[in-house]
Amino acid sequence: MIADKNPIQPLIAGNWKMHGRRADGAALAAELVRQARRSGRAELRCELVICPPATLLTALADIVADSPVRLGAQDCHHLPSGAHTGDISAAMLADAGCRYVIVGHSERRTQHGESDDRVRAKAEAAHAAGLIAIVCLGETEAQRAGGEALAVVERQFRASLPVATAAANTVVAYEPVWAIGTGKVPTTAEIAAVHAQLRTLARERVASGERLRLLYGGSVKPGNAAEILALANVNGALVGGASLDAGDFWAIARSCP
Ligand code: PGA
Repeated sequence: MIADKNPIQPLIAGNWKMHGRRADGAALAAELVRQARRSGRAELRCELVICPPATLLTALADIVADSPVRLGAQDCHHLPSGAHTGDISAAMLADAGCRYVIVGHSERRTQHGESDDRVRAKAEAAHAAGLIAIVCLGETEAQRAGGEALAVVERQFRASLPVATAAANTVVAYEPVWAIGTGKVPTTAEIAAVHAQLRTLARERVASGERLRLLYGGSVKPGNAAEILALANVNGALVGGASLDAGDFWAIARSCP
């Protein structure tokens, strides 16, 4: 086989969720910037993104400026502006220094009742603001037990991605709900099966779908990252708990093949 001369650059994104105050958030970001600046391309083979709470975005934008570390947000509103108390638009996130925004995380889908249609509208809003949307999908434990995992993921992929989805404006993160924050991880065969299906769907439905980055998320840790990141069609990871520790997050980033 001829080696791909232009392989997909993996993406390791840290989802800090509702964790972090100014002092510890700044220290974590600064430590990652320090590590990233020190390491050469041979060591840091991935793109590194941190998604802190919205309160920290502008402060951390200054810390990561001109470094290999990029900034992302955890959610955005689906409209550009208006009377939406407490919400933040994608354009505001771009203005705060973000390049990425997570949409459709299962915690948003469950705790805020976000449907596939709403997730798609948010991804469209992200695109309109020039942000790269990290669109999350994944089955529940009951759906997996019922043999529906592939069907659920396919349905969410079809319904949650905008028509204008392309490898340059979107990343898809497969996050089985039962693996998030639980320490439970699907087998590598299970992850590979879902990612193979996502690649087929991407080729069918997405411009440059062959190059669409497909992340795995759910209890990724330094101890399992290398095995997961080496799987075909896994182009990085969305990391929750382990992204709050600079050493762990860096170890995961270094596990990229
Ligand atoms: P976890 O979270 O790594 O703590 O399981 C992943 C996520 O929610 O993105």
